[in-house]
This record gives sequence, structure tokens and C-alpha cells, in this order.
Amino acid sequence: MTTDKLFSAYKLKSHTIKNRIGVAPMTRMSSSEDGIPRRDVLDFLVRRARNGAAIVYTEAIVTDYESAQGYPGQSRILTQRQIDAWKPVVQGIKAAGAVAVMQLFHCGRMAWPEINPARRVIAPSPISPRQANPMTGKPYPVPDEMSLFDIRHVIRGFAESAAGAVEAGFDGIEIHGAHGYLICNFLSAYSNQRHDAYGGTVEKRCRFAREVIQAVKARLPADRLLTFRISNWGVADPDVSLFVDQDEYRQAVRILSREPIDALSVSTYSYSDPAFGTRRNMAQLTREATDLPIMICGKIYDRRSAENALQDADIVLSAKAILLNPDWVADVREGKALALPASEEANVAYTQTPLP
Ligand SMILES: Cc1cc2nc3c(=O)[nH]c(=O)nc-3n(C[C@H](O)[C@H](O)[C@H](O)COP(=O)(O)O)c2cc1C
Repeated sequence: MTTDKLFSAYKLKSHTIKNRIGVAPMTRMSSSEDGIPRRDVLDFLVRRARNGAAIVYTEAIVTDYESAQGYPGQSRILTQRQIDAWKPVVQGIKAAGAVAVMQLFHCGRMAWPEINPARRVIAPSPISPRQANPMTGKPYPVPDEMSLFDIRHVIRGFAESAAGAVEAGFDGIEIHGAHGYLICNFLSAYSNQRHDAYGGTVEKRCRFAREVIQAVKARLPADRLLTFRISNWGVADPDVSLFVDQDEYRQAVRILSREPIDALSVSTYSYSDPAFGTRRNMAQLTREATDLPIMICGKIYDRRSAENALQDADIVLSAKAILLNPDWVADVREGKALALPASEEANVAYTQTPLP
């Protein structure tokens, strides 16, 4: 009999992940002015832990009050009230035997002025995405090129938010370096055309990410996890390959792997798709460049896809499938026939409807 890798435990630093299935980070846009998600949105995370997910990521939490927010109703973890709101959520997830990780994010050039208190949009270079902003129907504004002061300010926002997450009891932090948001804007020459220490070569484009990692790490007690999410695609201009080729991607992975992170979370549209014109998928290409544990996400929706994805990774994350089906982990365990969720089905995440 073959061993059941999907439901075997995994050691991530000092944390035992009871199986290989996690809830991917999912923004729900449910907060009001106080920056605290709606009660049912918080309860949803605890329920997914009780129903078998071994690791639960929060929605992307905005790291400052100036320019970090990218969508209405996003949350922060900078005030005592915000910290206190998350404490019972973390306790609930841990009581269910799962690991709770808070994702931190700055939206970079994906912001628009009305969404942030300081009405600013900042990015490595003054270049906006080509496509219009689907939330406003208007072009994304041309961002201010970040000064060194801006860079330091944003890094402090990540560090302060990480301190808030530690105070709330989270087992770990994820730095969102994917999907065309700020850190990703620095990593990719598509959005980073700086000529200073933060732009040019891959090494220089990784510098901002490295400084964020180091600043966050400095605020984490030794036992907390630190993961980094990376992708080759962005939410705006989704067809653009953010790394020019496989060599550039692998180089970035190698550089980031030298930093004190405990895992790389690789985000794809579809885990099995070959990448960069090769015959290998993103997890395989990542594996070639790092010894770090790898999490993989993208169209993992039933037992077969989860097991396939796990051949090249250590942990699988689900977004839409686990969003829509509270019993997803049990259904996967049973090998139940499950349908691949359609993208539009996930829009329920942004409604007032409490999810089961
Ligand atoms: C409603 C929703 C919200 C999302 N919000 C985030 C987010 O806050 N941070 C992030 O890194 N990815 C976010 N994603 C992307 C997912 O984490 C995941 O990478 C993507 O949906 C592909 O996985 P899937 O095929 O299992 O849905 C979101 C996806 C959905 C459906």
C-alpha cells in the first residue's frame, strides 16, 4: 500500500502541520472603517480549521494607512482593537489543531487614490498597469516613484503589522510577494525600471523583498513561521510573464531562499500548467532552485489534483474549492467526485452572504 502523503503530517520548522492541505489567502473586502473583518468572515476561517485544513491563511492584511490598500473593505492589524479582534480567531484555529498564518500585503501600483487615507499610489517606477481597474472602470493612476523615505516607511508598515500579528498570537506571517502588488512590482522588470540599488539586475530587484523579509523577521519570536508568496502573474495584465524567462525566475527564487524564510508559496492559475515555455510546471521549476518547503496553489479541487500537485510540492493550498465547500477536506479524503469551481462562483466571497 502506498503511503497517503496528502494526509500525512509535515514538519514546518517547529510546527507540525497535521496534513498537507491549507486554506489559501483570500481577501473578502468585509471590513468597515475600523479595519476589522465581519464576524462571519472571521468565523469562516475557524470553521475551515475545524473541518480539517491544517494551515489557514488570512486574507491579505494592509500594512499601513498611507498607500497600502488595494480594495475596499480590507483589514489592518495596527491598532489594539484590530489585534484584539483576531485573537479569538487565532485561538479557534489553533484549538482545531491547525496553524494560523497572517498574510501581509501592500498593493503598490494596484491602488487608486480614493481607496487610501493619504490618497497616494506608490510603486518602484511611475508605470501603471495597461488594463483599466475593474473596480473603478478607469485607468490605474500613474504611481509616484517611491523615494528612499517611502521605501523605509513601507518596510516599517510590514514590520509593525507583523508585530500586531504576533501580539494577536499568529503562528506565522506570510509576505505577499505575488500577483502584481508592491513587492512583486519590485521583483519584475515589467514594473520596476529603477536605476538605483532597488532596480536593474534580478539581485537589485530582489532587494526590496529582502529588506521586507529581514524587517519582518526581526519582529518575530524564533518559533514563528515566515513564508513568502511568489507568482509569475499579476491580477492586472494577467497574460504578462512577470519574470522574463525560467532563468530569471530561478535566480529570484535562489536569492529569496537565502533569506530567513521557512517556505515559498507558489501561486499559479493552474498547478500543472507548464511554465516559461518549458515542459515543467512552476513547482518543479521552483524545486530546481530551492531546498525550502514549497506550497502550491491553482486549480486544486479534488483528491486527484491534490495528489498530483503534491508530487512537486510539500503542501497544497486551495482557494475557491475550500471557499465554496465547507466539507472540502473530508470530501477530498473520501475521494469524492468534485467539480472544478468556476471563477465567477468565488464572487460570493465579496458579498454580505455568510458562507457555510
Ligand atoms: C475570493 C478570493 C480572494 C483572494 N484573495 C487573495 C489574497 O488576499 N491574497 C493572495 O495571495 N491570493 C488571493 N487569492 C488567490 C488565491 O489565494 C489563489 O491563489 C487562487 O484563487 C488560485 O487558487 P484556486 O484555483 O484554488 O482558487 C484570492 C482568491 C479568491 C478566489
